[in-house]
Formats: sequence, C-alpha cells, structure tokens
Amino acid sequence: DDVEKGEYAHFMLKEIHEQPSVVRRIVSNYFDNGKSRIDEKILNDIKDSDRIYILAAGTSMHAGLIGKNLFERLDNIPVEVHIASEFAYQKPLLSKKPFFILVSQSGETADLRACLVNIKEMNFPILTVTNVPTSTLAREAKYFLELFAGPEIAVASTKAYVAQVAVLALIAYELSNKDFDIREELTKVALSIENFLSCQNMLDVTRYLLTHRNCFFIGRGLDYYTGLEAALKLKEISYIQTEGFAAGELKHGTIALIEEGTPVIAIISDPKISHNTRSNLNEVIARGARTIRIVTSEVAEAGDEVIVDAVHPLLTPMVMVVPTQLLSYYAALERSFDIDKPRNLAKSVTVE
Ligand code: G6P
Repeated sequence: DDVEKGEYAHFMLKEIHEQPSVVRRIVSNYFDNGKSRIDEKILNDIKDSDRIYILAAGTSMHAGLIGKNLFERLDNIPVEVHIASEFAYQKPLLSKKPFFILVSQSGETADLRACLVNIKEMNFPILTVTNVPTSTLAREAKYFLELFAGPEIAVASTKAYVAQVAVLALIAYELSNKDFDIREELTKVALSIENFLSCQNMLDVTRYLLTHRNCFFIGRGLDYYTGLEAALKLKEISYIQTEGFAAGELKHGTIALIEEGTPVIAIISDPKISHNTRSNLNEVIARGARTIRIVTSEVAEAGDEVIVDAVHPLLTPMVMVVPTQLLSYYAALERSFDIDKPRNLAKSVTVE
C-alpha cells in the first residue's frame, strides 16, 4: 500500500493530485492527430435519438448532472438524469427514441446492472462510460468509453469524477458545432488544477470552518451540481452532516437551520449569477453563518477565500470541485478518520 501511495499519506490525496495528469491522459487518448477517437457510430446513434437518459449512482450521478448541462447547452439535446436504483424499478415514461448513457467508475454497480438488463430487453442503445474496461457494464453495453483515470483506490471518488465530466464533455463537444478547441480548454483545466494544488492551503480554511456538526454548500447552475458532489464527499469521509443546495432555494426552508457559526460554503464561477449567490450568502451571514467563498479568478472579489484560475465556462466543474475535495480530505484528517476506507461504505456496491 505504502509503496503505491508514494509520497502521499492517503490514496485520496494522491488521487486528488493525479487529476491534472488524468485530464491530460484523456486528451491524448481521445485524440489522434487532432481527430477524435470517439466512434462515429456512438455519435450517430445519439443524433438519431430524441433524448439522452443518463443513469448513475453517487458521485457518478453528479457527473451525470454536469453531462446533462453540457449536452443541452452544446447540442440542444434534451437529457434526463436518473438515479440508477430508482430507474431500475420505477421506470419513467420514456421518449420514443432514447439513448442511454450509464456512468460508473467501477462498471459493477448492481443498481446499474439492473438498469442495463432492463434497457437491453427494450432494445435501446446503451453507452457505458467507465474506468474499468473489463467490467460487466463495459462488456455488456453496445458501446463503451474508458475514463483513463487509472485505478482509484480511495472509496471517495475524486479523479474518476473529473474524468467522467471530461469524457461526457468530449462526447457533447463532438456532437456540437465545435466553436472552441476542447483540447486546448482541457489543457487549461489541467493547468488550473495543478496551479491550485501547488499554492492553496485548504487546511487553514478547513480548520476555520468545520467545527460544526453540519455544513451547507450553495451554488447556482453548474456550481449547484458541484455543491451536491462536495456535500457527498464531505459527509462520506468526515461524517459531518452536509447538504448541497441551489443557492436561491435555501431561503425556502433550509435557512431555518442556519444558526451562529453554521458553515456555509458558496461555489461561484458564473459571472452572470455571481451577484445572486453573493446576496444569498449575505442572507445567511445575517443569521450568523460562517462562510467561505470558492470562486474563479473571473468573478473573484476582495476577501474571497479560495480562488481557482478560471477555465472554459462549461468545464468549470472540473476545477471548482478540487478545493472541495481537499476540504473533505482535511476535515477527515483533522478528525483522524479512516480517509481511504470510511465506515459503512464500499468502493463498489454489488448488491441492489
Ligand atoms: C459507491 C461508492 C461511491 C460511488 C458509487 C457509484 O457508493 O462508494 O463513491 O460514487 O458507488 O459507483 P460507480 O462505480 O458506479 O461509479
């Protein structure tokens, strides 16, 4: 174990630091002399469909939510994201020509396997996006795309999530009119993460903030989805009760939970709605919350605590998630919990 962890105390920290190289590996594996290696048949099947259904669980479901946004914004294709365990037994009303994307780090999650059997019976095309080419989901679906994240050992997923967003972005890009160069933009993502990891100290932020038994992440648009993933990560390894909220929704009920010192972490990357999220922050500050702003250089204002270099707006989730991963890591470290193997959790859940 120690040999594989190298200079890092935990696999999770190592895997967080591997993210820039994972992004670069995806770029080099998915392009050949500038030409995409994504099978045309996949793209044609998607173009032939009238709706994409993304099915996944846990962290992979959060990557799916980002994927939805990308397909809708870049390609004008309507997308539904479903929790695998719900879809398998409570099938929604499907469109006439659905295309299914099953997103899974392990490719073995039982809830997704149940979906796969179900969809195959209906004869609809399935693409699996997974980290393990030999996995059941990779083998049994019509199409398969690899994440190239390398083995992920820590139960809490980090680099596989970033890889999932990257691969979904590549598919969405290939279907679009390509008015930017995604290779260049992903390279900037790798640089932004690298730069952040080399100069930000999230330990101080964590100490300042996480003295409570609960915590909230707020954000709008893509930042909301990042907040959902950030909340899952924090609760699964630090056992702090954490929820991610759409920033504007907090006032419709959950703000009742804010009391003196309650931590609220805002994720802000979109200049169009930065102002709105900041005013939501003021609402919770007025009720005693202790706040932290995780922002991009594009929207940064004096006093913002955590700043990451801005990247292409649609790829922002890949960089915004990184400070939240470190926050979770240090929160668990400070509490002396088993970071790589949190209680009650399994890396791959093979029962329904
Ligand atoms: C387990 C893991 C999570 C993961 C989820 C889905 O619950 O603990 O980290 O997100 O399964 O796993 P998958 O391999 O399908 O992405």
